[in-house]
Amino acid sequence: MGPLRSVHGQVKAHFAQALHDAFPSVQQDAAVVKGNPKYGDYQCNNAMTIFKEHGAGLGFKNPMQVAEAIRSALPANDILGEITVAPQGFVTVKVKEEWICREVGQILQGDVEYTDLPRKRVVVDYSSPNIAKEMHVGHLRSTIIGESIRRVLEFCGHEVHGLNHVGDWGTQFGMLIEYMKEAYPNFQEQLPEVHDLQEFYKASKKRFDEDAEFKSRAQLAVVDLQAGGVFATSAWQKICEVSRVAFNRIYRRLDISIEERGESFYNSLIPPLVEELKVRGICKESEGAMCIFTPSVSTIPLMAVKSDGGFGYDSTDLAAVYHRLFVMRADWVIYVTDLGQEQHFHMIFDAARQAGWHSPPLTRCDHMGFGVIQGEDKKKFKTRSGETVKLSDLLDEAVQRASQEIKSRVEEQQKNGGEAFLTDPKEQEDAAEKIGMAAVRYFDMKQNRTTNYVFNWDRMLDAKGNSAVFLFYAYARIRSIQRKSGTDANSIPSTCLELKHPAERDLALKLLQFPEVIEAILADLHLHHLTDYLWELCNTLTGFYMNCKVLGEAAQSSRLLLCEATRKVLLKSFQLLGFTPLDKI
Ligand code: ARG
Repeated sequence: MGPLRSVHGQVKAHFAQALHDAFPSVQQDAAVVKGNPKYGDYQCNNAMTIFKEHGAGLGFKNPMQVAEAIRSALPANDILGEITVAPQGFVTVKVKEEWICREVGQILQGDVEYTDLPRKRVVVDYSSPNIAKEMHVGHLRSTIIGESIRRVLEFCGHEVHGLNHVGDWGTQFGMLIEYMKEAYPNFQEQLPEVHDLQEFYKASKKRFDEDAEFKSRAQLAVVDLQAGGVFATSAWQKICEVSRVAFNRIYRRLDISIEERGESFYNSLIPPLVEELKVRGICKESEGAMCIFTPSVSTIPLMAVKSDGGFGYDSTDLAAVYHRLFVMRADWVIYVTDLGQEQHFHMIFDAARQAGWHSPPLTRCDHMGFGVIQGEDKKKFKTRSGETVKLSDLLDEAVQRASQEIKSRVEEQQKNGGEAFLTDPKEQEDAAEKIGMAAVRYFDMKQNRTTNYVFNWDRMLDAKGNSAVFLFYAYARIRSIQRKSGTDANSIPSTCLELKHPAERDLALKLLQFPEVIEAILADLHLHHLTDYLWELCNTLTGFYMNCKVLGEAAQSSRLLLCEATRKVLLKSFQLLGFTPLDKI
């Protein structure tokens, strides 16, 4: 079975052909959009503009005549059914039932697949927390969003490298090593907890600012570290190790597969690169620093070398973008961080362009920026006692709340005399973990990525609203119908599929719109296209259940097929968003 193709894309291609044939002198893109369901599935809007711009010259009296000409020029095809021309000039089409059935058959017989050509090599830089500090909610967003975009790109057939650009290098390690030597001399044998590390980090910074003698020792430690000194290197490695263990705990819970390639990786690339950029006149001296001035930002330059002669965040990102575009030969690089760093990345992209590593549209660089998570008071998200929220606590709370939700559902099922599934405590625990993680993720990704959002547990776990819990129930309901049917959907020939009721047709067509959602994400990197789609799909599914009984009906086989195809699309979407559904709730 081949990959799915977008219905919209195919309908549009037929209209593009018709426009070209009917109006060879008019250069216009086919304007095809989803139609008003009352009249059809898709609608072509070109007749109005063609009439306005060229109508008189071409001898047409009104837009409807233009629309008729477009309709007559539509090439022979097996997808378009009924075509209606409205007096205003809209050409509305319905997709043929036969065609829909065949495509749904494709979903049933194979995997849900989609291919985006040409195949590209993509680097996604995400998560990227800092060593010796705890991950904060901003890193949570980067981790969740980055992982999903990585999965979507991989699903489309691209070669994707998910890179964790951890902050594992810089002058702060000098002070930390020096401080640990004093305060925790045996830290290399008995590793501290990550939380303690954060405290040491704060204390070392304080010493650094207040004590000149400590400051010069810390600076020497940095020099030692940069020169690869044995003690400094091993101390640094140990510190990284402690942080890594904590990061990995979170990655495991969220099923994140990312390769660590921290700032330190690029360290040795920086000096020769700066040298080259200097020779080529891209990097210029200004107030003692080596700067790159870019068209994107006129107020500040990018600092290839700071005025104290050191390399900083900008230097590392210059080397990183060079490595990704020039050494790895990536066609597309995506950075997932909060919008606060937007300017920084636009300067990096500009610099890469000036250096000749980035030549759009051949290569593409995106900053996938996101807004901040706020508390109910619309201020920075804090705990009740005013501290920053620890990620692990947040995930724990999600699980605990999901567990409450499961328990009350089980109680209700038992009270109503129905079958209760999750009665075993072990199973309950596992389900709560899955639902909790999914709820946090889904709630995040359904937001418009670029706006701030208010964190709200109730909405996140609302079984009736647009939440992961709602989706889990929708999935489990399909599973329950399948179990009750006693039939394996895979044993029903896909030719049994019929679309007699409009609610069946609506559901089938909705399934086929999945590739359009993927295309939308590829275009603007907004993941809410997928969450919006899931919400619509599940509501269409509810409409189907309301109108079409599945079990014990003459249409049972056909309807079981529709349920199975829906389950497959749901499952694939869940995987892309990073969660695993439950068969029974
Ligand atoms: N460590 C940085 C932070 O916590 C994010 C790094 C993002 N990636 C990059 N290539 N600069 O803000």
